[in-house]
Amino acid sequence: MTQAATSAIRLSRRVLELPASQTLALAARAKALKAEGKPVISFSAGEPDFTSPHSVGEAAKAAIDAGQTHYPPVPGTAALKAAVLRRVERETGHTATPDRVLVSTGAKQVLYNLIHALVDPGDEVLYAAPYWVSYPAMVQLAGGRGVAIQTRAADDFRLSPADVEAAIGPKTKALILNSPSNPTGSIIAKADLEAIVTLCLDRGVVLISDEIYGGLIYGNAKHESAFAVSDPRLAEGVVLVDGVSKVYAMTGWRIGYAVGPPTLIKAAAKLQGQSTSGACAIAQAAAAAALDGAAEDAERMRQAFERRCALAKSLLSEIPDVVVPNAQGAFYVFPDFSAYFGKTIAGEKITGSLSLSELLLDKINVAAVPGVAFGADNHLRFSYALADDELREGLARVKTLLSGE
Ligand SMILES: Cc1ncc(COP(=O)(O)O)c(C=O)c1O
Repeated sequence: MTQAATSAIRLSRRVLELPASQTLALAARAKALKAEGKPVISFSAGEPDFTSPHSVGEAAKAAIDAGQTHYPPVPGTAALKAAVLRRVERETGHTATPDRVLVSTGAKQVLYNLIHALVDPGDEVLYAAPYWVSYPAMVQLAGGRGVAIQTRAADDFRLSPADVEAAIGPKTKALILNSPSNPTGSIIAKADLEAIVTLCLDRGVVLISDEIYGGLIYGNAKHESAFAVSDPRLAEGVVLVDGVSKVYAMTGWRIGYAVGPPTLIKAAAKLQGQSTSGACAIAQAAAAAALDGAAEDAERMRQAFERRCALAKSLLSEIPDVVVPNAQGAFYVFPDFSAYFGKTIAGEKITGSLSLSELLLDKINVAAVPGVAFGADNHLRFSYALADDELREGLARVKTLLSGE
């Protein structure tokens, strides 16, 4: 045997230093326990429990029948780009041209491409904490430094323009904004958004506005899009990131998009051209059908999430000493369980969100994601993308365990 065949594989430092996604890991563990026959109720899902709208599947079948089975253009098909621009104009009033659109394999790849197109080693990218797990990882992969700006549960996790201003330094390249937020479900206020957009444009910081949950808003709350801010410089410094995964229940189709400055979009497309090329042509046809014609399905699902949001917040509030912030969007609640830290429950000492999350999974078969994954160890993230009766049963189990009933 040659030496090459016997020697151990030496992985890159880049990949060795990269943390694995804790949200995906927990969801996988919950799935495995369920497969073993355990009565698992999982609040860990980052996706709607609904299947995609029927019309979306029909559009995909029609695309196959029409022979749309070849490589699509790298930045996206003309049909989907046009549908994206129509939707953006409908929702925000902002008009743009197709050269400002990039379609990728999910909003995740859009963000990855944008960050890699912007960040040199040592550059800083700002984002609010609690943050979506992939922002720090993507910045780290690009050799940049992620700078988390702390927000507080008492302020419903709202990002303050003054805190953003204080965090901007000579190496700041970009700010990633995420409203409604994963993991907190909080929504940015219009005045704060306007101030942050102006600040970024004044200081030459690219604003990446991740609005993937923009269509999932409840009660009197309203989604404020960065593209709805009136500033003539918007097209030069703001990138809107969105997709069909969450609002149209199309996570498996893997289509996301960005609308931004042509130079940045072109650079991100160049990167995509050397990695995955254009996103699946059939999925792009399906996504165009969703953006143009699945509004009723989206509204039906939004209403279900609205009901469950209220139900989850009310049931979590019944658990003694748990503080439930006012989530108004996405499909997550991010309650504070720190009152239980230091206590011993069912024979286990709770030291933080990870040990609490393990206790829930081991003792009562309930999966909730530890807040430490999002940079907020006092919290657990509960997704309410699950059936109402499961939601009731799961939270009843948590209440019984924690209140020692
Ligand atoms: C805040 C946020 N942005 C982006 C994404 C990526 O979505 P997708 O790649 O499914 O379009 C997710 C998915 O969990 C998310 O939570």
